[in-house]
Amino acid sequence: MRKKTLPTDTQERLLRSAMKVMKNAHAPYSKFRVGAAILLANGKIFSGCNVENASYGMSNCAERTAIFSAVAELGPKIEIRAVSVVNDRGVPCSPCGACRQVIYEFGPDATIFFQGAKGPKQAHITELLPEGFRLQ
Ligand code: THU
Repeated sequence: MRKKTLPTDTQERLLRSAMKVMKNAHAPYSKFRVGAAILLANGKIFSGCNVENASYGMSNCAERTAIFSAVAELGPKIEIRAVSVVNDRGVPCSPCGACRQVIYEFGPDATIFFQGAKGPKQAHITELLPEGFRLQ
């Protein structure tokens, strides 16, 4: 699996979509708004934001919101090519472990764009999640 390059305009579309949906976040507890956009193999883009809950553990990350929306709309045969994650503080924010596993389920060859410790970064999902779980 080589490092994929996404055309710059597609990358920008994905980023814009993540920035736009971030504004819809329900994050009254952490006050940390996150937006995510996923690019599917069919060219479609889906987006999602974090949705928190007074029972903190029930909160859902932006990445999973986006993925679950895509499955709800198109069914389970979606193939994720790329994911873009943004936050309203411009701080480093890579997908959490749970989201990495969910991305891997639908995008074992996906490229993830996020804010790394040293600035914008892109990584293959298997760099973020080596040995992801798959039910054989
Ligand atoms: N969060 C995301 O939505 N995506 C990430 O990649 C990291 C964290 C959310 C979860 C929670 O609502 C808030 O950020 C603070 O952890």
